[in-house]
Amino acid sequence: MCGIVGYIGDGEATPVLINALKKLEYRGYDSAGIAVLGNEGLVVRKAKGALKFLEQKIASEIIKGTMGIGHTRWATHGEPSDINSHPHTDVSGKIAVVHNGIIENHAKLRTWLEGHGVAFRSQTDTEVVAHLIDFHYNGDLLQAVIETLKRIEGSYALAVISENDPDRIIAVRKDSPLVIGAGRGENLIASDVPPLLEHTREVYYLCDREIAVLYRDHVDFFDEEGTSLSKKTVHVEWDVEAAEKGGYEHFMLKEIHEQPKALTDTLRARIGTAGDRSINLEEIGFDASWAEANRVVITACGTAWHAGVVGKYAFERFARIPVEVDIASEYRYRNPIFNPKDIFIIISQSGETADTLAAMRMAKKGGARFIAITNVVGSTLAREADLVMYTWAGPEIAVASTKAFTTQLMCVYLIALQFGLLRGTLDREELAACIAALEKIPEQAGAVLANKEEIQRFASRQFNKTKAFFMGRLFDYAISLESALKLKEISYTHSEAFAAGELKHGPIALVDESTLVVAICTQTALFDKMDSNIKEVKARGATVLVITYEDESYFDRTADGIFRIPRTLDPLSPILSIIPSQLYAYYCSVLRGLDPDKPRNLAKSVTVE
Ligand code: F6R
Repeated sequence: MCGIVGYIGDGEATPVLINALKKLEYRGYDSAGIAVLGNEGLVVRKAKGALKFLEQKIASEIIKGTMGIGHTRWATHGEPSDINSHPHTDVSGKIAVVHNGIIENHAKLRTWLEGHGVAFRSQTDTEVVAHLIDFHYNGDLLQAVIETLKRIEGSYALAVISENDPDRIIAVRKDSPLVIGAGRGENLIASDVPPLLEHTREVYYLCDREIAVLYRDHVDFFDEEGTSLSKKTVHVEWDVEAAEKGGYEHFMLKEIHEQPKALTDTLRARIGTAGDRSINLEEIGFDASWAEANRVVITACGTAWHAGVVGKYAFERFARIPVEVDIASEYRYRNPIFNPKDIFIIISQSGETADTLAAMRMAKKGGARFIAITNVVGSTLAREADLVMYTWAGPEIAVASTKAFTTQLMCVYLIALQFGLLRGTLDREELAACIAALEKIPEQAGAVLANKEEIQRFASRQFNKTKAFFMGRLFDYAISLESALKLKEISYTHSEAFAAGELKHGPIALVDESTLVVAICTQTALFDKMDSNIKEVKARGATVLVITYEDESYFDRTADGIFRIPRTLDPLSPILSIIPSQLYAYYCSVLRGLDPDKPRNLAKSVTVE
C-alpha cells in the first residue's frame, strides 16, 4: 500500500503536495517523492525514509510550479531507497509517474523494454509504466496512457505528468483507490479523502478502469478506450481525523476490515494461472531442494508465533514432516540441536523484532537455511533471509496485529501445501481442493465482517467479564492462543488460552459464573470432544460463546451464543475463525473506554531484548 497525490491549480504545488502526503503517511512511510512541473521543466525530488527526510532535502531550494504529483511509499518491488522511491521517470526525464499497486507483468515488460534499449534505474515494477508511456507517446499524453493500460496487468492507481504535455494530470485506477477533489481553480487527486479536505469537500470517486484528466478549471473523464464519461461529484461530510482512518473509528478496525483485500493480494501472485491451479513460489526463489528438509523449525514472537503454531499443524497435515515451533526469545537461549537438513521459517510482521532476529542469526550460524515471512520490504529480516515471502498486507499501524496475522497464515499454508506436493504427501487433486478453498477465503472473510454487529452485541453484554478463556483443539487451539492475546492486550481482560483437553488437568479450577469461555469449534472430527468440554465449563457456571461453521448445528443446544463463519476445509479455518475474536477484542476495548490502537505498555515493534 502506498499513497499518491496530485495538484494542478494557481497556487504553488510543492507545499500542497507535501501537506497532502502527510495525510497519507499511514499508507506507507519508507520513502517519499514529488515531481513538480514549472518554468524550469520537470523537477523530481525523492528521499528514503519518512516524509521529513524529503522535506529536509527540499527545504533549501524553491521548487516553482503550479502542478505536480507525489508519493509516499510502502515498498513492494525493490527495497526502500532514494532510487526506488517514486516518482519514476522515462529515460529523458520528461514523463513522471507515481503508482500505488503492483504491476504483475512488470518482469516481462522490463525485458521487452530493455530489448528496445531502455536502461532501467530502479528495481521497481512502476518504472516500466514511465517507459511504456514514453514508448507510446506520439504528441498526446492521454493516448499514450491508454496504450500503456492495454499492456499492464495487476493493480494500479497512477498519476502521470509530462513536460511535453503540460497543464494536465492524467490519473487512472484499477483495484487501487483514487479520489479526485474538485476545487475552485484547482483540482487534486489522492489515494484517500483526507488530503483533499483542506481544499474541497466535493469529490469524484474514480471507478476501476476509469481515467481522469485534470486541468486547472475542470476534470474530464474517460473509459479505458478513451470514450468520454460523465461523472458527478459526491459531497464529503467527514471530519479530517475520521477521514485519515478511512471513516473507521480506529486503525485497528480499519485493518480488520482490510483483511479481504490483504488476503487477496498475498494469495494472488502465488497461484499459477496454469490450468492445474498450482502454487507458484518461484517468485521467492523456492525450489524442490527446500522440500528435501528433514525437519522444519519455526520461530517468531507473539502473534507471529501463533501463525507458526498454525504452521506446525499445517505442515504435519499436508507435508507429513516433523515441525518444531518455538518462541524466538526461548529458542535463542536454548541449546538447540541443528541438523544441516533442517530448514527454518522465521515470521515477523516488522522484520525487526530483536529476539526474532537473534534466533534467526543463531540458526544461520548453525548453518541452517531459512525462509522469512515478513510484511516489511527491506527490513533486517528480509535482507538477511535466504528466501523472503512477503505478506502484502500494507502498513499495519494499530499495535494489535490483525491483517498481518491472517496474511502470515496465508503464506504458511502456501508453503506447507507446496511442501506437501513436492514430498508426495498431497496429490494434485487434494492440492486443487485446498487452492480452491484458499481462493474463497478473502470473500468469506468479508462475509464474517458483514456480521460484525452480532459480535458487537455479544461484546456489549460480556465486556465487563474479568476472566475470559479461549479453548480449542488442534488448529482451534492455535487460534485460541491468538484470540486470548488480542483480548488481553487491548481490553486488559485477564484472558488465557487452553487446549480444550487440558482443562480437566487444572485450568477448570478457575472456571466460575464470572468466566466467559469462547470455544472455537472448526475441527469436525473433534466436535464431540469439544461438546463435552463446553458442558464441563457450563456446569461450573461459565457463559459460553461458540465460534463454528454457519451450517453447523452441533453446538446449538450447549452454547449461550454462537458466532458462525463460512464453511471451509477444517485445516484452513484459522484465517476465518480468528476474525470474530479480533472483533470481540476490539469492541470490548472500546466498550471499556480504552484506545485499541494504543494499548498501555506496548509498542508496535519490539526492537529491545
Ligand atoms: C500482538 C502483536 C505482537 C507481535 C510481536 C512480534 O498483537 O502484534 O505480539 O506479533 O511483537 O512482532 P513482529 O511480527 O513484528 O516480529
